[in-house]
Amino acid sequence: MNEQGMRTGVWLVGARGSVATTAVVGAAAVRTGLGDCHGCVTELPDFPDAGLPRWDDLVFGGHDIVDLSLDKRAAELADAGVLPHRLLGPLAREIDAADAEIRCGAPPYDPRDPLPPEAAAAQARTAERIGADIEDFRDRLGLARVVVVNVASTEPAVPVRPEHGSLPALRKALDSEPDVLPPSSLYAYAAFNAGCPYVDFTPSTGARLPALDELARSRGLPYAGHDAKTGETLVQSVLAPMFAQRALRVRAWSGTNLLGGGDGATLADPDAAASKTGSKRRGLEQLLGRQVEGHVSIAHVPALGEWKTAWDHIAFEGFLGVPMSMQFSWHGCDSALAAPLVLDLARLVAGAHAAGLAGPLGRLAFFFKDPVATTEYGLADQYRTLREFAAALAGPA
Ligand SMILES: NC(=O)c1ccc[n+]([C@@H]2O[C@H](COP(=O)([O-])OP(=O)(O)OC[C@H]3O[C@@H](n4cnc5c(N)ncnc54)[C@H](O)[C@@H]3O)[C@@H](O)[C@H]2O)c1
Repeated sequence: MNEQGMRTGVWLVGARGSVATTAVVGAAAVRTGLGDCHGCVTELPDFPDAGLPRWDDLVFGGHDIVDLSLDKRAAELADAGVLPHRLLGPLAREIDAADAEIRCGAPPYDPRDPLPPEAAAAQARTAERIGADIEDFRDRLGLARVVVVNVASTEPAVPVRPEHGSLPALRKALDSEPDVLPPSSLYAYAAFNAGCPYVDFTPSTGARLPALDELARSRGLPYAGHDAKTGETLVQSVLAPMFAQRALRVRAWSGTNLLGGGDGATLADPDAAASKTGSKRRGLEQLLGRQVEGHVSIAHVPALGEWKTAWDHIAFEGFLGVPMSMQFSWHGCDSALAAPLVLDLARLVAGAHAAGLAGPLGRLAFFFKDPVATTEYGLADQYRTLREFAAALAGPA
């Protein structure tokens, strides 16, 4: 990719949320030299020149359904200790520029409260409007490409319907029925129709429907997902291979997660939490090669603010069945862990698009709890694959 072709839009669905705001302010801080880039994997010496967009090349916009301005959201995050106060004044122009590119998003959809039949085709119109917003952003700002990243509130899991199975069936249903797709999938549909790659940062359904996979491939677009791993699952993806490789038999693995912040409030809904616990548990069972006792729970603790605590207890057996246990706890700032990964993913997926890759990017599994198109769940293996992927994007040395 030549340098002219690098100007890259990062279109954040959920643009006024904690993760999105931290990503916008963080990118501006790194670009202006006011902040460091700890937590950005693509800045490690292992990724010397993967031909990825530079910090100067990134331009932000997005959709949200609330209208709290980005500077106010950033001030709230600074008060909560997530963003340094000293950044907000010097970066006010960058924050306002991103704010000016945020448009009204697709309404949330509650499968327990479906739209009436007279709302038929409403989603087709919404998808068109959303796609038009993204195309306008790309064309007006002269961007080489726009990567759409879903960082909106986690949705409850929705049942897969027959019309999700093929693109013609999906298009027909969108033209004649209400509530065909959950918003995360409607955004993916709109992004692909607008010629944009898509990243599922959340456990919501997003691009993971056969009809949307068909659309992405037919348009020559890559997509990545889903549900970024930033805490408990990240640690699990290191520890589970250790137990497996040392032939220690894990009997039970139980996890308790205490979350503050907007994400914690969303996950107080048991249906939304089920999406998250499902994606957490799948990786663990893949790594251990079987189901084990124990379960993952998520509780909303507003007093934690933007922080989260995970406590895991692992019961295992050694030689001749001798019982042992291990416990760990992780106390992390949710958005500080997530935002650099949003930036990594936007850059890597932009690089993949520039290199002509299409379909699910299984080689980005390193970033996700429940990665698409791969069965590789161990962090060390995933990191090796990521390095190879980035080296291939860079081309021959
Ligand atoms: N922070 C982490 O470590 C982490 C890790 C993995 C995944 N995630 C996921 O990232 C997402 C964002 O987390 P957060 O802490 O920023 O949450 P948040 O509650 O602060 O922000 C979510 C934003 O999404 C917006 N939104 C809701 N429905 C929308 C719609 N239909 N269209 C457009 N916008 C919509 C909300 O108005 C809000 O501004 C969550 O789904 C979370 O599960 C976070």
